[in-house]
Amino acid sequence: MKDSSTVAVAMAAFVAFAMGCPGPEEEAGTDDTAASAGDDTAGSPGDDTAAPDPLATDDDLDGFAENDGDCNDRNDGVYPGARERSHDGVDSDCDGEDLPALSEDRFDEALPLLDTDGDQAVSFAEFETACARSAMVVDAANPGVVQTHVSCGGTNSCRGMVLHSWEALYEHDCRGVNSCAGWSCVETATDAGRDGATAFTEARCDWCHSGSDGGFLVQVPAGEDPDAWVEGFLERTDAQFLAAIAFGVSGVSADGVAYADMPAHYGVLSRAEMETLIAYVRTLPIEGPSDG
Ligand code: HEC
Repeated sequence: MKDSSTVAVAMAAFVAFAMGCPGPEEEAGTDDTAASAGDDTAGSPGDDTAAPDPLATDDDLDGFAENDGDCNDRNDGVYPGARERSHDGVDSDCDGEDLPALSEDRFDEALPLLDTDGDQAVSFAEFETACARSAMVVDAANPGVVQTHVSCGGTNSCRGMVLHSWEALYEHDCRGVNSCAGWSCVETATDAGRDGATAFTEARCDWCHSGSDGGFLVQVPAGEDPDAWVEGFLERTDAQFLAAIAFGVSGVSADGVAYADMPAHYGVLSRAEMETLIAYVRTLPIEGPSDG
């Protein structure tokens, strides 16, 4: 440990170059600056007792320096007591390990919460209900929306809970979902209490769906018959609307071309706001591309 009074003397000069400074090893070459600033306490050049202790500096401003147990002082999401996310490969709370993937044991723990009809299995509807109520069994979260996936494609930008098709359940945070199939309950944005019209503009639906007569302009995917598509638009279920609004519309066409026609909105709208928005869209006059 280094002498803290020495640290205080040199600190003022040190701060100027400590911001964004590399780790302790690299700082070994900066003794000149520290020595001239704190010359009464400095030892011989190369004696690093004159320099403030970089391990006592909270570089990432998360409230913890390395000396306080911050195991990564360059990531403000990592410090003792930080929220740990399983399976993301990051030891967020600095207890020496990443929370392991939830095991089958954890599934047994979650089963009673998810399995409302008591048949010892979790149906899509049950998972959906649990997700809408609270995204994660493992932690508090904003009510979520379910994304169905046959592979991990498309689940790399969200935080949520995955129920694998083989009934393993775990929480994920972007990086941990590269070997999955099943359903993800994905956390949504915090509810801002927006009504349908406000959500429509603030989520920028108007950019692509504003009709010239003030109605909802239906976008017709390539290859579809416009009249039939517009005609059948409101026959979609709320669940279909929800999936499109939450996760957007993207895929790979029959001829192998990837498309992303509509952006995902789960990070912009809360679940309740999406539902309010769907009800609002249903009240709007529907316009097709050829109208107006
Ligand atoms: C960047 C443009 C864009 C924005 C922003 C956008 N959409 Fe879309 N939306 C599209 C396109 C394009 C389609 C047609 C899908 C396709 O071409 O594959 C579509 C399709 C839809 C569908 C039908 C989805 C389906 O099941 O086929 C709904 C419902 C919808 N949008 C609602 C909304 C709402 C509500 C918002 C705001 C939260 C919104 N969109 C924002 C471009 C957009």
